[in-house]
Amino acid sequence: MEQLLRVKDLRKKRILNGITFEMKQGEMMAVMGPSGSGKSTLLYNVAGMDRPDGGEVWLGNTQITGRTENEKAGLRLHRMGFVFQQMNMLANLNILDNILLPALHAGKNGHGKKQELRRRAQALMEKLSISGLEQRRINEVSGGQLQRACICRSMMNEPEILFADEPTGALNKGAAEEVMAELGRLNREGTAMLIVTHDSRVASRCDRVIYLLDGRICGELALGKQTGEPGRQRTDAVNDWLAGMGW
Ligand SMILES: Nc1ncnc2c1ncn2[C@@H]1O[C@H](COP(=O)(O)OP(=O)(O)O)[C@@H](O)[C@H]1O
Ligand SMILES: [Mg+2]
Repeated sequence: MEQLLRVKDLRKKRILNGITFEMKQGEMMAVMGPSGSGKSTLLYNVAGMDRPDGGEVWLGNTQITGRTENEKAGLRLHRMGFVFQQMNMLANLNILDNILLPALHAGKNGHGKKQELRRRAQALMEKLSISGLEQRRINEVSGGQLQRACICRSMMNEPEILFADEPTGALNKGAAEEVMAELGRLNREGTAMLIVTHDSRVASRCDRVIYLLDGRICGELALGKQTGEPGRQRTDAVNDWLAGMGW
């Protein structure tokens, strides 16, 4: 498989102390580590939302580091997707319009184009089992439904890679499992994913897990791609590995 993401000696203040890793196309990788170890900072610096002090980030043949803020915003809009725990959806828009927002920003919005985007949004909603919620306000759906809407929004521009920071952090166990099953399905259809999580069940759905401590990668666990639901053994393997890391 081809390389998708290359991160070389990334540094940020005392928070990231030289992070190097690569991801292949279609890979799904989890980042774990104690609170304050630099996981969110790593994600923001890799995605070009923050400016690292040193190192390089490449998405395919495009170097993200060193680009202007405008160029990085364009790369994020067209080539990356984002799912965060805070679920930053706009309260004054309904679910459908929230999902459409990044796509409307990305494209030339002739009438036909808008219809096509609306169809794509509704197909995604159908796929993530939230059809019928188009006109609801964000406070009129459950946490799990809202996070699935966030995933729809993140997929609208067909990203090469999706970045998620604690995507299940605000969800109960059942909703978390559903959201992760959806992410797993989208990954098997080809979207690479970099997922920060403190949940070993979430990590057990990933192909690979890295462990961050004091802004350094100090361990890596290769699991291979998950098909279907992860069994107990897989989560146990992650937990055993985490115990060895001092988790
Ligand atoms: N912009 C910033 N300036 C200074 N310190 C920061 C900044 N952002 C985060 N930190 C600090 O860096 C450390 C790592 O933060 P973070 O990446 O959020 O960790 P994690 O996501 O692993 O919990 C923490 O000690 C945090 O307080
Ligand atoms: Mg964090």
